[in-house]
Amino acid sequence: MTELDVSWQRAAARLLDDLVAFEGACFVAPVPATPVVAPASDELSRFRAEICQCSRCALAAGRQHFVFGTGDPRARLMFVGEAPGADEDRVGEPFVGAAGQLLTRIIEAMGLSRDQVYICNVVKCRPPGNREPQADEVAACAPYLQRQVELVAPRLIVALGRTAAAAMLQTDAALHALRGRLHSFAGVPVLVTYHPAALLRHPEWKRPTWEDVKWARRELDGVVL
Ligand code: URA
Repeated sequence: MTELDVSWQRAAARLLDDLVAFEGACFVAPVPATPVVAPASDELSRFRAEICQCSRCALAAGRQHFVFGTGDPRARLMFVGEAPGADEDRVGEPFVGAAGQLLTRIIEAMGLSRDQVYICNVVKCRPPGNREPQADEVAACAPYLQRQVELVAPRLIVALGRTAAAAMLQTDAALHALRGRLHSFAGVPVLVTYHPAALLRHPEWKRPTWEDVKWARRELDGVVL
C-alpha cells in the first residue's frame, strides 16, 4: 500500500466518523498527477479579470466580492455550488463557511485537497439574506459557469444541491430524482449530490452523499489519461 493510499484511508475514516459508520470502502488507485501543459491559469485569470466588475443583475449592487472560483485551473474534478453566502462574500472565495468546511472534509475523504479540485458556484454574487438565487440571476451568470467549465475542462463535475443541478441541467426535477445517474453539462459528465449546507441540517442525507462521493471517486479512477 502506498503512502497516498494510507493517507487517503485515514482521511476517509475521519470523515466517516462524522458522515456514516465506516463500511470498509476504500479507493486504492491514486489519482494520477495533473499533467503539466499549457498554463490554463493564465486564461482563467484573464477571464476572471474580464468579468469581476459584472453588473448584469441586481446582486452586483450588494456584493463585497465577486466570488469567481478557486482551485486547480486544470482540475479533473469540479464542484459547483449555488451562490456565495456571507462568509464567501466577505472573503471572496467559495465555500469557506461551515458548509465549506464540510465540503473540504468530503474532498479530503476522496484523497484530494482543495488545491487539487476546482470549486465555484452557479451564481457569483451573494443573494441578500442567503435566499436562493432567482431565475434572472442564474441566467445572468450562466455564461460565466459555462466558460469556466470550458477553461478548466474537468473530467467530472459534482453539482452540489438542487439549484446547481437545476441551473446546469435545465431541469425542475427534485434532487433525489437526479441522483444516481450521470448527466452532462458543456460536454462534461455531471453527478448530482446533496449540498453540504443541507447535510448540516439533515444528517440522514450524509450516507447517500457518501455513496455519491465514492461513486465520483470511482469515476475519476476509471478515467484513462
Ligand atoms: N453555499 C454555496 O452554494 N456556495 C458557497 O460558496 C457557500 C455556500
